[in-house]
Amino acid sequence: MAAALRFNPLLFLALAVSVALGIDLKRPLFPAPGSPIGLQDSDPGLRKALQFAEERYNRGSNAMHLRRVSRLISATKQVVKGIRYSLTVELSNTQCKKSATLRTCDFYPEAHSLKTEVCLFEVWDIPWEGTSTLLKQKCEPKMDPELEETNKIEDWSAQAEEVESMKLLGQFKEFMVKYNKGYSTQEGTADRRLKIFHENLKTAEKLQSLDQGSAEYGVTKFSDLTVEEFRSVYLNPMLSQWTQHRELKRAPPAAQPAPDSWDWREHGAVNPVKNQGMCGSCWAFSVIGNIEGQWFLKNGSLISLSEQELVDCDGVDKACRGGLPSNAYEAIEKLGGVETENDYSYTGHKQKCDFTSGKVVAYINSSVEIDKDEKEIAAWLAEHGPLSVALNAFAMQFYRKGVSHPFKIFCNPWMIDHAVLLVGYGARKGVPFWAIKNSWGEDYGEQGYYYLYRGSNACGINKMASSAVVN
Ligand SMILES: *[C@@H]1O[C@H](CO)[C@@H](O)[C@H](O)[C@H]1NC(C)=O
Ligand SMILES: *[C@@H]1O[C@H](CO)[C@@H](O)[C@H](O)[C@H]1NC(C)=O
Repeated sequence: MAAALRFNPLLFLALAVSVALGIDLKRPLFPAPGSPIGLQDSDPGLRKALQFAEERYNRGSNAMHLRRVSRLISATKQVVKGIRYSLTVELSNTQCKKSATLRTCDFYPEAHSLKTEVCLFEVWDIPWEGTSTLLKQKCEPKMDPELEETNKIEDWSAQAEEVESMKLLGQFKEFMVKYNKGYSTQEGTADRRLKIFHENLKTAEKLQSLDQGSAEYGVTKFSDLTVEEFRSVYLNPMLSQWTQHRELKRAPPAAQPAPDSWDWREHGAVNPVKNQGMCGSCWAFSVIGNIEGQWFLKNGSLISLSEQELVDCDGVDKACRGGLPSNAYEAIEKLGGVETENDYSYTGHKQKCDFTSGKVVAYINSSVEIDKDEKEIAAWLAEHGPLSVALNAFAMQFYRKGVSHPFKIFCNPWMIDHAVLLVGYGARKGVPFWAIKNSWGEDYGEQGYYYLYRGSNACGINKMASSAVVN
């Protein structure tokens, strides 16, 4: 653990952040991890961890038959804010079909039917929270028995390392195919991207192991970009100056308390997810998403409106290099309204302003800022429509699904760098969330949406909620 942390860029970032905030670094974030210790078969937690790994394995596999642990090769545990088990086991086919209700699951007597796999599991158990998490699962078919005879158990670590790099290459290849990535044939390009991909997987594992929600982090379409590249292309540096932004009028408080849950997608106020492309124009998408909702509530028709109009014609903001929602509302008021997406289509780069007042289909009259209390934000949203909000997007580069609740040091609420649209809220299995419409395409997160923990001002989500007002 300590060795793994030593070269972690994330830790450096965390340290840099702590220094910037004047946090006492001598006070550890959580107790220093202990060193791994080997386990006896009789260890009380081991059985539970094995069962948990087995259950997760079966749940995630497409195999017809249930598999059970047929041999324990090695097991260690380590104290890391709970107990982290590393288990190397063989899993073999039982005669039980997965769907069968009668469970007398004997192994097959014939070796060839066993289809044995060798798996490495890491199970993270937090006894005082009653939770177990599968941090890692790496499986490979077991080698032929004759070959294995010559393979002493000491070779396991070398073999595991090889398995690991094979697996990494496999994941990278899959990533390249899935997201249609072609790298220039220039020497070293793909190599460099593979290294970044590897680093990002490690960062995702770190986020995963410390996530306090139910999120899954891992390979995303941004997995071949360094954190710096990602930030400079997709995020919004102007939002970091949010404390100096033009003061908006305070919104009057919501008339009713917030209902338990609300989702504007179920009420026709939200257009499909759009894609800002390689341009830091999230602010335009956030504001236009809000205006689409406001116009729908005023007028009854949901029209897709133009972000490009803001990118080209809002002279105060910086087009693809970032902007502030407060400026964007003002720009639209001055222009006299917004054209449709069809009439003024998105190109993803700044062009000469091509606005025609004759093509305006929606207007706004002013804008307001909503209170920073999450309960009030929820009540306001349910009453008035989807809201423009901003947040710290560090964890979003690695997010795949579930309710994200990053460890605070990875998601500094004062370093806001991405604007999005809050469309609803609720709870999943007791975990309260915000439903956030993003502008990175539908192949990001959950069909283009990011779900963030609600109730702890996570990632600064409460800092900059605002809305246009249509009279
Ligand atoms: C809704 O907006 C459209 C387009 O701007 C307009 O033609 C129509 O009259 C509006 N309808 C209502 C009920 O306001
Ligand atoms: C709101 O703005 C529109 C367009 O600029 C304008 O025609 C309308 O009169 C305004 N409404 C009010 C109540 O000010």
